[in-house]
Amino acid sequence: MNREELVNEAFKAMENAYAPYSNYHVGAAVLTCDGTVFWGANIENASYGATNCAERSAVFAAYSRGYRKETIKALAIVSDGDRLAGPCGICRQVLGELLEQDTPIYLSNHKENMDTCIRELLPMQFGMEDVIR
Ligand code: THU
Repeated sequence: MNREELVNEAFKAMENAYAPYSNYHVGAAVLTCDGTVFWGANIENASYGATNCAERSAVFAAYSRGYRKETIKALAIVSDGDRLAGPCGICRQVLGELLEQDTPIYLSNHKENMDTCIRELLPMQFGMEDVIR
C-alpha cells in the first residue's frame, strides 16, 4: 500500500469522526508490516478533555491487536481543515513512544501534503529512558 492509498484510508476513517463540538473532523490510518490497516477518528466528549484524537485512536487500535512500533510501517493523518493537522502535543508524546522515530507520518488535507516523522515533530523527547533507570 502506497502513501496515496493509506491517505485514502484515513479519509474514509474521517467519515466516522464524532465531532459535534468542534465540527473539525480528523481521520488516521496505521499501516502494519503485514498490510493490515487500522483506522482512527477523533471522538469528542462533552467534558472536552475526554476527547480522543484520531491518530491516538488508530495507534491504540493497532497496539490492541498486538502490533508494536517495530511492526508499524506508516501513519496517515488527514483533516477537513484548510491547514494540515499536525498532531497535538499529547499525540506527539504518545507517538514518540509508540512509533519508531523515523516511521513515516503522512499529513494531508484537501489541498496539500507533507511527510514527516516523530523525530522531526518532537525534538528533545521525554521518554521511557528518563523514567526507568
Ligand atoms: N484532533 C485530532 O483528532 N488530531 C489532531 O492532530 C488535532 C486535533 C481533534 C481533537 C478534537 O476533536 C478536534 O480535532 C479539535 O481539536
